[in-house]
Amino acid sequence: MNILILGSGGREYSIGLAIYKENKHNLFFMPGNGATSNLGENINIEDYNQLASWAIENNIDLTIVGPEAPLVDGVVDIFKQQNLTIFGPSAAAARLEGSKVYMKNILKKYNIPTAAFLETSNEEEAHDFIDGMNLPIVVKADGLCAGKGVIIAQSKKEAKEAVTDMLNGSSFGDAGSSVVVEEFLDGYELSIFAICDGDNYKILPAAQDHKRIGDGDTGPNTGGMGAYAPTPLVNEDIYKKVEERVIKPTLEGMKKEGAPYEGVLFIGVMVVKGEPIILEYNVRFGDPECEILMPLLETPVSELFYKGATKNLDSLEIKIKNEYSVGVVMASANYPYSSSEPAQIIIDDIVDEDILNNTHISFAGVSQEDGVLFATGGRVLVCVGSGKTIKEARNRAYALCGQVHYVGKKCRTDIAYQALK
Ligand code: AMP
Ligand code: GLY
Repeated sequence: MNILILGSGGREYSIGLAIYKENKHNLFFMPGNGATSNLGENINIEDYNQLASWAIENNIDLTIVGPEAPLVDGVVDIFKQQNLTIFGPSAAAARLEGSKVYMKNILKKYNIPTAAFLETSNEEEAHDFIDGMNLPIVVKADGLCAGKGVIIAQSKKEAKEAVTDMLNGSSFGDAGSSVVVEEFLDGYELSIFAICDGDNYKILPAAQDHKRIGDGDTGPNTGGMGAYAPTPLVNEDIYKKVEERVIKPTLEGMKKEGAPYEGVLFIGVMVVKGEPIILEYNVRFGDPECEILMPLLETPVSELFYKGATKNLDSLEIKIKNEYSVGVVMASANYPYSSSEPAQIIIDDIVDEDILNNTHISFAGVSQEDGVLFATGGRVLVCVGSGKTIKEARNRAYALCGQVHYVGKKCRTDIAYQALK
């Protein structure tokens, strides 16, 4: 097949790499990054109508969308109008991520367990609600805020200020014109992914991300500093509850709403006293979760996404390898505060067969000049290790990190700690 992948991160690289290894497809990336050009061809057509025309002219058989923004902007609708096969939700269904108010109302309407909340555009109403809450208090801007729209307030004063700043547009512009105020959930967080075709779904091994910049989950939030799967923090009981109480009612509900859900449903779960409670939906793969899930799939990734895009998932038996995958994000010096000077990346020749055969790099914020890679983004690359145990996979991933060099490189040293303690 000719396959087009939208996006430029490690997530898109990892999807590309998995398909590249199938050895029978041509890959295109829009816009891709400095390393995706080693897997296929990077193209640069930002307008979705023009991109759809290009896809027709170039006989693209399948388009896969990595990030949320093009989905919320309706790229799937535009491609489908042109009879192109594309894997991802329509703009209407992507509102599950595009609007937290919409998402919370869907959860409430279909009795899907989530934190008690108020959604409002009225400052006074929000402040009154906050007066009746226990601390801490969670305040969320409605729209897309690049992962920064959630404030966990330690006092009522702080929560009220967060509401006021969101509603008057000073903190997140239009994305804050409505807010969700909700109770704080105390538990452990999981990322669960279901590949959906509107009616059917395939659930992937549960992953755990590490959102904070520092070891021991300290410091500011990032896009994610590392992930591993499958996590032993999930048992059959939790999978069953997520399927019965969350995935099935969501697929049924979205059909009733006239927006059947096709694409990756990323379920942000907080497990509180053994019960999975939904924090949020995203309408795409997590990054870096995708980078560690792709290597666990024995089923060809192209087939999984193609069948997802053509309402054919029930004909697929998904096969998962019997091993673990750990990914350690290597970031640039000033991440997540500000950008850093581009730095040349040097990767030592890997002579150790064990490391060579059980690790790989998923490239993210990199550019390429004359065959040389430079770190140009916040999250530069992900070192991924696999193994028969989490410990083995993690040791291999960290061994690979030791072989990668650039000025200002940094990574967390404790990825997967919750599984190993
Ligand atoms: P969200 O964008 O809704 O996933 O929120 C970002 C992060 O904030 C989540 O990954 C959680 O770590 C945290 N968070 C969001 N909502 C809650 C909540 N109700 N209770 C505790 N933590 C939360
Ligand atoms: N790793 C979390 C996310 O992609 O949103």
